[in-house]
Amino acid sequence: MSRAFNRVLRAAERGEYPKTLKFIWKRWYQAISLISSERAFAFMNYGYLPPDPVPLAAEDEPNRAFIGLYHQAVEGLPLAGARVLEVGSGRGGGAAYIARTFAPAAVVGADFSSTAVKRARRFHADVPNLTYEVGDAEALPFADASFDVVVNIESSHCYADVPAFAREVARVLKPGGTFTWADMRNPAMLPALDTAFAVPRLEKVAETDLTAGVVAALDATDGDKRARLARYRWAGRVLQEFAGVKGSVLHKGLRKRDVLYLARRYRKS
Ligand SMILES: C[S@@+](CC[C@H](N)C(=O)[O-])C[C@H]1O[C@@H](n2cnc3c(N)ncnc32)[C@H](O)[C@@H]1O
Repeated sequence: MSRAFNRVLRAAERGEYPKTLKFIWKRWYQAISLISSERAFAFMNYGYLPPDPVPLAAEDEPNRAFIGLYHQAVEGLPLAGARVLEVGSGRGGGAAYIARTFAPAAVVGADFSSTAVKRARRFHADVPNLTYEVGDAEALPFADASFDVVVNIESSHCYADVPAFAREVARVLKPGGTFTWADMRNPAMLPALDTAFAVPRLEKVAETDLTAGVVAALDATDGDKRARLARYRWAGRVLQEFAGVKGSVLHKGLRKRDVLYLARRYRKS
């Protein structure tokens, strides 16, 4: 089972079988989003720990590593009063962190997994400026020029048609708005990523290599993750591979830099 999962990861890295993989990812996330009903597990990313720790509210401390990807994504953006869309919002922790911390007018999380959306709605019902919708990144159910910021964290490697996603981002952003993206790619896939994001009116303004900080986060969360996953022994090693524990194919790939974790920002002209 874990070998099959790693084959899926490798094929995704190489950009092979995009439609089949999208089908598999959708079923995977429908199932995985249900795995725990605990609000404490509101993130599904590998995490990022920067060299200088960012200040966090006490309630966010337990999720410091996972919030790290969101904090770096929006740091310095004028979010007060803004409309923010997160595409691929999962169990909703990142969108909720942005809504609670940066005083935006509204944050909308969209995900193609209806079970993830249900969990996110339940976990974060107490955050007033936050909603979650079912929606596909490649055909977003939102009006043209309706958001100031679009956030996309560790989700785009699942998409069958990344250029369609980039066109949708450019469509729903207001002029002057920001698209802030972070995800993993095999270095050989970077030219294809550049081509996919080369859509009219989106201009790349920054790129940061997060790989070392992602490995630091994986190492810092390893013991805790293994303890949590021990409850799901029936799933064998597949959940450990998915979670990127030490010794997993993904952890090794990031350490050896066969896989890079990058952040980029684009501005809509
Ligand atoms: C690794 S999880 C990350 C979730 C969240 N961003 C986080 O950091 O906790 C990837 C998410 O992307 C979503 N996703 C994958 N393909 C998608 C698509 N085509 N449209 C919308 N969401 C998608 C999955 O359902 C899943 O919730």
